[in-house]
Amino acid sequence: MNATAVAHPNIALVKYWGKRDLELNLPAAGSLSVTLKGLSTTTTVEFDSSQSTDVVILDGSELQPGRPRRRVVEFLDLVRDAADIDTSVRVETANDFPTASGLASSASGFAALAVAAADAAGLHWSDEQLSVLARRGSGSAARSIYGGFVEMQPGSAADGSDAHATPIADSDHWDLRCLVAVTDAGTKDIGSTEGMLRTQQTSPLFEPWRATVADDIAQARNAIEHRDFNRLGKIAERSCFRMHATALGADPAILYWNATTTRLIHAIRAARSDGLACFLSIDAGPHVKVFCPSADADEVRTILEETSGVVDVLSTRPGRGARRCTTPTSTASTG
Ligand code: PMV
Repeated sequence: MNATAVAHPNIALVKYWGKRDLELNLPAAGSLSVTLKGLSTTTTVEFDSSQSTDVVILDGSELQPGRPRRRVVEFLDLVRDAADIDTSVRVETANDFPTASGLASSASGFAALAVAAADAAGLHWSDEQLSVLARRGSGSAARSIYGGFVEMQPGSAADGSDAHATPIADSDHWDLRCLVAVTDAGTKDIGSTEGMLRTQQTSPLFEPWRATVADDIAQARNAIEHRDFNRLGKIAERSCFRMHATALGADPAILYWNATTTRLIHAIRAARSDGLACFLSIDAGPHVKVFCPSADADEVRTILEETSGVVDVLSTRPGRGARRCTTPTSTASTG
């Protein structure tokens, strides 16, 4: 009863922000993302009847009681309930990129955990069922079950059974690059759940924004189908800035950006005015993700590296969905 899985983070091109059910973690609207090779989480799950309690090891250190450990244990309870077992579990998980740095480690983390835990428990679940399960850990994790370009269905069923991701196009559909500019540490981020709830409860901009999401998804799907970079960029940046605008409209306001984030926004807009094909996206943290055609990746990297306050630039491209693998190390970096 043990299994290992690898998964990649994803970046939303049409953002998810807001929940229609907190307990089942149901999104208030759909979203659309691309799963990114170049960053990976590898997770091994072992059901071990000799253990009296669950053990969760993240990047070599055992998680102590607290919210991160509780999230994992509650997630494992869902798998134990489904498989009708009550055995304790040992989870060992490692990221090859900075954990909890706003680089979507919860997406790859819960996608890898869903695949490994379901497999170790003997559940032969479809990708759709795994996506529903991953969603319970983190909304964006539901999308990392699939590779390439992915749409999240908000669903309408009260039990959340139709709130799962669906694939739109494979990772080899479009040879894009996504460069992640890691910025210097700023103030501590407000977690995405807290940020979403405060926005929904206090921002007058939230409902008008939510009403635009379905149309953005339809337009983004079309742009992806036709590999129309400029159109996708327009939709994706608009979705990102509007999501952040809803958060800024919360009371008290939520601002995820630091000074480097703002410098990067100006640098990318200037480069685009000068004719470089690129667009950006920012999530619930200060880092900036910049998309470009593969031929322009070196030029974009130079711009990011020359921006003051950027501490690292990570290179990613569309990659595969979450999958089982034989050993913790053999397939972690294959993408
Ligand atoms: O999956 P969560 O709960 O970490 O929320 C992700 C929220 C954003 O990253 C800001 C947007 C998105 O769609 O990924």
